[in-house]
Amino acid sequence: MKYHIIIFGCQMNISDAERVASVLETMKYKEAKNINEADIIAIVMCSVRQSAVDRIFGLIEKLKKLDKKPTTVLTGCILKKDRKKFIEKFDYVLDIKDIKKMPQILKPTSYKVSDGTHCKIDNYLDIAPKYSSKFSANVPIMTGCNNFCSYCVVPYSRQREISRPAEEIISEIKKLVRKGYKEIWLLGQNVNSYKNGKINFPKLLKMANNIPGNFWIRFTSSHPKDFNNEVINTMAIGEKITPYLNLPIQSGDDKILKAMNRHYTVKDYKNKIKALRKKIPDICLSTDIIVGFPGETKKQFENTAKLFRDIKYDMAYINKYSARAETAASKLKDNVSIIEKKRREKLLTKILKQTALEKNKKIIGKTVEVLVDSKKDKRLFGRTKEYKNIEFNSDKNLIGKFIKLKVIDATPWKIKGKL
Ligand code: 5AD
Ligand code: SF4
Repeated sequence: MKYHIIIFGCQMNISDAERVASVLETMKYKEAKNINEADIIAIVMCSVRQSAVDRIFGLIEKLKKLDKKPTTVLTGCILKKDRKKFIEKFDYVLDIKDIKKMPQILKPTSYKVSDGTHCKIDNYLDIAPKYSSKFSANVPIMTGCNNFCSYCVVPYSRQREISRPAEEIISEIKKLVRKGYKEIWLLGQNVNSYKNGKINFPKLLKMANNIPGNFWIRFTSSHPKDFNNEVINTMAIGEKITPYLNLPIQSGDDKILKAMNRHYTVKDYKNKIKALRKKIPDICLSTDIIVGFPGETKKQFENTAKLFRDIKYDMAYINKYSARAETAASKLKDNVSIIEKKRREKLLTKILKQTALEKNKKIIGKTVEVLVDSKKDKRLFGRTKEYKNIEFNSDKNLIGKFIKLKVIDATPWKIKGKL
């Protein structure tokens, strides 16, 4: 019996899919080479934007056409409102926290707890995952969110925050490092609010940094209100913690930030960036933005554009506002037209392109450390310690290895290097 997993959405969903694969393998399913071979298909969905939900409906049509008529299991971030519709279309619709119960739910007669340990339903993160890469691992440290940003479904789909025990996280990282993993991503909807007894996020970072071995530590995502000097200092002294930060600002206008329920001002955010750049001058910065939040005027959007010019990001994930059921903002009128949202997205992309190019050009001639991650003929690709995309030529198979490259050229989204 074979399984196939389809993943939509963020890195946390990739990590969740690794746990789904692990549970299916304890049920004696083997990974299918392709979707047509599968007896069971698990879909890890995303509900953050309506377009992601619409894609699931598109997928249903594709699944119907499969010869094998596989069992279908939908999990991931699912909104209560959508659940009813999905129950009619999929064989099973499971909350991500219930994936440990799959052996019981899918095979009621042969129920056995998959990993032989305790089966507390809301503690699915203690399932040992089937890592999808041999050198870069996703390690969730917490899940859920208590922040209720007015546009966001996550507090409804993933519910309240739970943090994994620090010993469990550290022992997972130690095992990965022993196996030769080179990159560890600490994941959570808001990693900065990680709390397990006396251990907060900076303490956890220090503990991870103290693990002996040659590896990098990355983390995502951070909330500016909780991103503080203790984290900055830990990043500055932790030699394994990479100089890269995604700090979502969402808007450059204080009134919009208030309507978004973000609990910081543009000034607070800028002060944090200033403190960070003082300690780590070469930090590579990215952000998340929502354009066209209900009521966002052209002037308010201009404040976001101005912030973009001031901060000079290396990368940004620019999202057009999409009203999500159950959220506070969905009660407001979605009154910025799609054309205007696209215009705003385009304008920010244009500024980003300039600042990213400017920053990438600064490293031409320098030698950078790179973790190689993929290959196409003689072209190899990787990421620098700062998480910049880099391309170079080589006959050797260097995937999963740390190497040093000299930067010889730069474009906005990629740099070119030479061995
Ligand atoms: N509409 C558009 N973008 C959204 N995001 C979250 N919710 C919405 C929404 N309703 C974006 C935010 C967040 C990222 C993961 O997705 O920018 O940081
Ligand atoms: Fe959503 Fe806000 Fe929580 Fe991020 S911090 S997951 S945007 S509610």
